[in-house]
Amino acid sequence: MSERNYPLADRVANLDASGIRKVFDLAATMKDPINLSIGQPDFDVPDPIKEAAIEAIRRGQNKYTQTQGIAELREAIAADLRREFGWSEVPPILVTSGVSGALMLAFFVLVNPGDEVIILDPYFVMYLHQVRLAGGVPILIDTYPDFRPPLDKIEAAITPRTKLLVVNSPGNPSGAIYTREELEAIADIARRHNLLVISDEIYNLFCYDAPFVSLAELYENTILMRGFSKSYAMTGWRMAYVTGPKPIIDKMTTLQQYSFVCAPSMAQAAGPVALRTDMSEQVAAYKRKRDMVYEALCDTFGLVKPAGAFYAFVPAPKGMTATEFVTKAIQNNVLVIPGNVFSERDTHFRISYATADEKLAQGLEILNKLAKSL
Ligand SMILES: Cc1ncc(COP(=O)(O)O)c(C=O)c1O
Repeated sequence: MSERNYPLADRVANLDASGIRKVFDLAATMKDPINLSIGQPDFDVPDPIKEAAIEAIRRGQNKYTQTQGIAELREAIAADLRREFGWSEVPPILVTSGVSGALMLAFFVLVNPGDEVIILDPYFVMYLHQVRLAGGVPILIDTYPDFRPPLDKIEAAITPRTKLLVVNSPGNPSGAIYTREELEAIADIARRHNLLVISDEIYNLFCYDAPFVSLAELYENTILMRGFSKSYAMTGWRMAYVTGPKPIIDKMTTLQQYSFVCAPSMAQAAGPVALRTDMSEQVAAYKRKRDMVYEALCDTFGLVKPAGAFYAFVPAPKGMTATEFVTKAIQNNVLVIPGNVFSERDTHFRISYATADEKLAQGLEILNKLAKSL
């Protein structure tokens, strides 16, 4: 049967993986690539977390849990939030199947067809697709060249149809972290226009130069999302949480009941152990990798120094698109991702430095040589 004979729904007609697929098709031709494309830590889940999940399986914690997540985990999360934000009361918490799951639930609970969602470009690509699946219209705000939140442009983009603003700090792919002043200004705009804000803080642990500030501390109508995927290298375990205004979290919980059901039970059982695990060594190692990337590439490429996550978003050499440069990098055995996968622009490429120092150093040397040879 030809592809068009299968009656796929209209909502997925424009859903395609072409940008990233092209990169991976090219990558498939590489022998032993230096892979600087991967969006997950290169360290493994710390042993006590693994043991807690294994023990939970042995104990028989293999069944559906409560939709909102097991009480022990929600209490541990609430205690952390109370400590961090000085909250006397914590809004309801929903444990989700990754931040991806939390995003899906939030967009489907909040976005009506035609509603506008403001997203800062470059962006985590899932935002765009999920907003469109929910019938919404992503409104992209350009943050080049320094990836600071452009407050005037954000305010100017607000219309009567604007439902949500999505903030992602530390950001993927930019590695930018918003300052307290910037977040206060965002909160001020949101408050004046009565906007809800999703704060995707999945990289909150990976913050290298200053203490992390959360929008949730500054703005009451924040839908705060945090994950276990990046912080504890639990990407395959599918676990995160979301907290925010009760009517929204309650409705997301009901929708989870009819969709994801619950986050994996053994991952939830290990969650409190994860929250107590000190990841400062891993974070310090990633800070060193960030420094390595910046020092190696700043003169040749003139990149903005990333402050967090584990990405650098680097301008392609003058006179060529990012896709052209990435094609050449791949021909030289280094796998990086062109910016048009995360952006309306094709001017930058993303390096993930979540890899062994030796591989990273080799990759950086090749990229430098390549840029100088052009
Ligand atoms: C900014 C951002 N948000 C959310 C996610 C989703 O993570 P998960 O569903 O594993 O929690 C990712 C993963 O790459 C990300 O980079």
